[in-house]
Amino acid sequence: MSIRLVKMIAPTHTVLEGGGFKVRRPSSMGQLMSPFLLLDEMGPMEYGPGEAVGAPSHPHRGFETVTYMMAGEMEHEDSAGNSGKITPGDVQWMTAGRGVVHSEMPSEKMMEQGGLMHGFQIWVNLPAKNKMMAPRYQEIASSDSPTVEKDGIWARVIAGDCLGVNSSIDTVIPITYVHVKMSQGSNLLQKINQGLNAMIYVFKGSVQIDSAKVEDGSLAILTDGDEVQLSCKDSAEFLILAGPQINEPISRYGPFVMNTRDEIIQAIDDYNSGLLG
Ligand code: FE2
Repeated sequence: MSIRLVKMIAPTHTVLEGGGFKVRRPSSMGQLMSPFLLLDEMGPMEYGPGEAVGAPSHPHRGFETVTYMMAGEMEHEDSAGNSGKITPGDVQWMTAGRGVVHSEMPSEKMMEQGGLMHGFQIWVNLPAKNKMMAPRYQEIASSDSPTVEKDGIWARVIAGDCLGVNSSIDTVIPITYVHVKMSQGSNLLQKINQGLNAMIYVFKGSVQIDSAKVEDGSLAILTDGDEVQLSCKDSAEFLILAGPQINEPISRYGPFVMNTRDEIIQAIDDYNSGLLG
């Protein structure tokens, strides 16, 4: 067994997106973060009545958007006629593939009454051969979402596995996405197959990986190995993310992530001609 350690720590910065939507995100680590293109912590933010904002109708092509709510409610609607509400603990795994036009807005109740909003949106890149696949949605309600509680650790397994529990999401490429809460004095051994890129994003407290302390608001990129050993002196909350590095060129323009500039121009043309929905 070889142990994964902290290779480097990416700091985060907080930005206001759209109409004032607070997002905390790590500096982009390029290929070190592959296959993840973006990791956005939405909030936590307390909205007053009438203050909540979201993302009205917009397209995507060439990757997946994964939304995970911890507080608050989002409503989504897309060009293929799918719609629904994501509430705390729910996960929406949307594979945009060849194209989707959708909106992601706070629920009507949140818009009217305000409230606490906290969640994640992560973008997972697709290999060239899957970029134009048919779009698909997987929605896992909190009540159906696999969780595990053991020796001071709680985990929700969004993708991959943790403490012997497997996720129910079908991913295009092998992804690990686990939300973990560790209490004081607990230890976690997480297996992550050799060769995959792996990282830990801490959003509450701090966690120890060997001699490295990974604090709230940092993304620790791990070295290669079979497993990572995490320990916690106080308490911590974090995400474990892992997946294969996609060694292909990235051409990115706003909501489109393709391999070449020509494919981006095509995506814009297709969107303007209404082919994305
Ligand atoms: Fe979107």
